[in-house]
Amino acid sequence: MPDVDFAGKCVLVTGAASGIGRAAAIEFAARGARVVLGDLDEAGGEETARIVRRGAGEALFVRVDVSRDADVAALIAAGAERYGRIDCAFNNAGIEEEGQRLADCSEATFDRVLGVNLKGVWLCMKHEIAHMLPKGGGAIVNTASVAALIGAPNQSAYAASKHGVVGLTKTAALEYGRDGIRVNAVCPGVIRTPMMDRGIARRPEIEQLIPRLHPIGRAGEAAEVAAAAVWLASDAASFVTGHALAVDGGLTAI
Ligand SMILES: NC(=O)c1ccc[n+]([C@@H]2O[C@H](COP(=O)([O-])OP(=O)(O)OC[C@H]3O[C@@H](n4cnc5c(N)ncnc54)[C@H](O)[C@@H]3O)[C@@H](O)[C@H]2O)c1
Repeated sequence: MPDVDFAGKCVLVTGAASGIGRAAAIEFAARGARVVLGDLDEAGGEETARIVRRGAGEALFVRVDVSRDADVAALIAAGAERYGRIDCAFNNAGIEEEGQRLADCSEATFDRVLGVNLKGVWLCMKHEIAHMLPKGGGAIVNTASVAALIGAPNQSAYAASKHGVVGLTKTAALEYGRDGIRVNAVCPGVIRTPMMDRGIARRPEIEQLIPRLHPIGRAGEAAEVAAAAVWLASDAASFVTGHALAVDGGLTAI
């Protein structure tokens, strides 16, 4: 990818201990970024930082619960203190829903899923934008889902949270375009990560359905979503903002 160069830049990635976040951290670092990694999972986050450093990159891991304002503020402060500024952010941390129809979804489940997937992205954006504004701009990419673009049976809280992420993305793009801040989202189909493995463990019958759901005939790889996020965050996407990019092997084209 030409123009997808992050040399001299600092990129924040949440959900960096696993799956798509880890793949993105590795890809940003491979393109020259210093990466600030946030996750609840300390062991996994430190492991991602080690992988980045083994590739001669620079990484700082900070344990964070993205649903807590003080944690998010501390993550951004730690990144800014270590590397001077945060130029780009990939707000990717998220959790799945166990799977039941809407009337069977408990209030606790709804609050938990919305707390991480929607409030967590909102808190990250709020602190990132406040940090970027006086520095003249930046680029933010949020992880939504195909469940942000179409309904998702047995995943009402998850679908509501991800539709909300696209709403936050488009609104912030409108509000901050003239301040030099671009805001986009990626909407992955089913991606081979520990989240997918947990889904299959709960409902083994879905494993056979996954290739059939995607016109490309297979699940996606974390690196394929990472590549899209890296491009959206880069200067190569300088005229792209407010966009929710399906990275779904054609699933939502049907
Ligand atoms: N895998 C898929 O099929 C798929 C499809 C569409 C969207 N997504 C989205 O992609 C993102 C990444 O998912 P993944 O597949 O890599 O899953 P994953 O479970 O492998 O990784 C998610 C990471 O987020 C972290 N996390 C969870 N709650 C957190 C919190 N409160 N604070 C900080 N970190 C937290 C986890 O510790 C984990 O490291 C999620 O937002 C998910 O909803 C995944």
